[in-house]
Amino acid sequence: MSIVIRRLVAADQSLLSNVAPGVFDDPIIPASAEKFLADPNSVLVAALDGKKDSLVVGFASAMIYLHPDKSAPEMLILEVGVDDTYRKRGIGKGIMKAVLAEGQAAGCKLAWLATEPDNAAALALYKSVGGKPPETCIHIDFDLTADG
Ligand SMILES: CC(C)(COP(=O)(O)OP(=O)(O)OC[C@H]1O[C@@H](n2cnc3c(N)ncnc32)[C@H](O)[C@@H]1OP(=O)(O)O)[C@@H](O)C(=O)NCCC(=O)NCCS
Repeated sequence: MSIVIRRLVAADQSLLSNVAPGVFDDPIIPASAEKFLADPNSVLVAALDGKKDSLVVGFASAMIYLHPDKSAPEMLILEVGVDDTYRKRGIGKGIMKAVLAEGQAAGCKLAWLATEPDNAAALALYKSVGGKPPETCIHIDFDLTADG
């Protein structure tokens, strides 16, 4: 397969101008991408299609943080997505393995994420890379904009 899966670093920013539609929720904002890639605790792993000029066809993003009551950092996986025409080929699994390896390399003892209980593809993916069964949890958003 022509797919390469790897962490993107600051020098890779131009790759984010060639992203398959629908991979990210919203279009890439160059200034935000630059800050994210420059931060060693912000991890972006991408799947690149070498046959399509390194088109980004999947990704996972994560944050590494050290909580005041923990001796080792933890990894919060923020988002995972694969372009719908590339799904069910092992790309999501490869991306998850790569992002978890980044967490391990950074000394993390735990990685965690949240997903919807009815997202069968996501649940299957996370199980396939060793994710434990989900704990019941609800998601609450706070709108921090002035008119929220
Ligand atoms: C979840 C997602 C990233 C999976 O990507 P993918 O590249 O298709 O996953 P893979 O091909 O690596 O499959 C990994 C495992 O999940 C299983 N799987 C994938 N899609 C599935 C589906 N729709 N139903 C059931 N199992 C599925 C595969 O069979 C495989 O299991 P195995 O290793 O035991 O054989 C992809 O479906 C996606 O982008 N969905 C929309 C975004 C999303 O929901 N992201 C997660 C938000 S938390």
